[in-house]
Amino acid sequence: MSLGKEKAKQYLEANEEAIKNIEEIIQKEQIECEFKRKDAYVFTQKQDEIPKIKKEVEVVQSLGLPAEFVENTELPLKILGAIKFPNQAQFNPCKYTQGLIEAMPNVQIYENTKVIDLKTEENGYEIITENENKINAKYVVIATHYPIINIPGYYFLKMYQSLSYVIGAETSKQELDGMYINSEEPTISLRTTSLEDGKNLLIVAGMDHKTGEKKDLSEEYEKLIKIAKQIDPDCKIKYKWCTEDCIPLDKIPYIGEFSNLMPNVYVGTGYKKWGMTSSNIAANIIVDKIMGKESPYQEVFTSTRLKPIKNYEEMGNMIKEVVKSLIIEKLKIPKKELENIKKGEAKVIEINNKKVGVYKDEKENLYAVKPVCSHLGCELSWNNLEKTWDCPCHGSRFTFEGKSIYDPSIQDLDIIELE
Ligand SMILES: Cc1cc2nc3c(=O)[nH]c(=O)nc-3n(C[C@H](O)[C@H](O)[C@H](O)COP(=O)(O)OP(=O)(O)OC[C@H]3O[C@@H](n4cnc5c(N)ncnc54)[C@H](O)[C@@H]3O)c2cc1C
Ligand code: FES
Repeated sequence: MSLGKEKAKQYLEANEEAIKNIEEIIQKEQIECEFKRKDAYVFTQKQDEIPKIKKEVEVVQSLGLPAEFVENTELPLKILGAIKFPNQAQFNPCKYTQGLIEAMPNVQIYENTKVIDLKTEENGYEIITENENKINAKYVVIATHYPIINIPGYYFLKMYQSLSYVIGAETSKQELDGMYINSEEPTISLRTTSLEDGKNLLIVAGMDHKTGEKKDLSEEYEKLIKIAKQIDPDCKIKYKWCTEDCIPLDKIPYIGEFSNLMPNVYVGTGYKKWGMTSSNIAANIIVDKIMGKESPYQEVFTSTRLKPIKNYEEMGNMIKEVVKSLIIEKLKIPKKELENIKKGEAKVIEINNKKVGVYKDEKENLYAVKPVCSHLGCELSWNNLEKTWDCPCHGSRFTFEGKSIYDPSIQDLDIIELE
């Protein structure tokens, strides 16, 4: 509601319309992606969250959309109250995307083709790929998750990334009727999907935190497993993974023109872990813009906005972090320092005011990198769970060998050779 009642209503309606739009596409193209209408719940296990939840029910109702406060859910967890949003939807996004690809046989899709730059030329744009191929286009949509172009656009001043953990547990318990997320921290999100052998997969996600911010991550999966066991003590953990999403400072996705200085370039980003409907909203707004049509929702998501930015503190941190860059030219590490690193762990070692990130694997092989993000030069943090170097500024992530695995960075880290 930070943008006022009218825009809040448009935001909700845009998301409701996106669900209908996705459902229609699935029906029309006969995409088998386990699409099901289900109720969504935002629950709490804390008494002091109840007034906030009740207030949100009132707000949503006042915007003319159905929501109700419930005291009980089907979950075998101690829940004190929840908002019920009826008739939302669940589907398998990978199967949906595959179905979309099959529905567009004349569209050429190039996989494993990394874009590294976008240049203005006489009749539009030249898109440069990693292997130095060039693609010419009049219209460009930047949908690389975090935009890889820094200036203009300046999205690095408007967004950070949040990392979440997910487990998939095989269960013989019946499928959940609803989808669940809690209102407090740490985040817990729960749903089930059916497996082929008649069993179900319980998906528990959460423990969100700003990428690169938290020091000890070793227990994150264990915390989710504990919740899964509360739901089904006999469940078997089959999958574990973690991933991140872009969070705008004012929590509203950026959809539309990339920058006033780059006509015909569009962007869809900042979906804040709500990308299934937000990406559909983005697709419709951007298509309308290219076709010269007005979209009723474009104003809410205006991507060129720098204001209102409510969270000045975070913005201040970001700027501070962006300028906190380091330059390392040479390195010599005393043997003793390296011996102090335990197997499977990493350390940032400082010698003569120069820093190097060293990881020691289980076989005692050493991997040294310059722990400085190749995006905009922030100092990287060690992720002791995934064995990656993570950037606290905008969420780029790198393997212990320095390979860039998450945007907005597109370059690997500098490798340090140890003498
Ligand atoms: C744990 C978790 C749970 C979530 N649950 C939900 C949920 O229940 N509902 C929901 O709606 N959303 C959910 N989300 C959010 C949703 O997954 C994201 O918002 C969405 O996937 C982001 O879409 P995107 O198109 O911006 O980026 P992506 O899906 O990451 O797509 C970006 C694409 O761009 C490509 N790319 C990147 N850089 C380049 C480059 N340089 N050159 C060429 N290609 C490039 C990538 O390979 C990728 O294919 C969840 C997210 C997380 C982390
Ligand atoms: S992701 Fe931007 S500086 Fe690292």
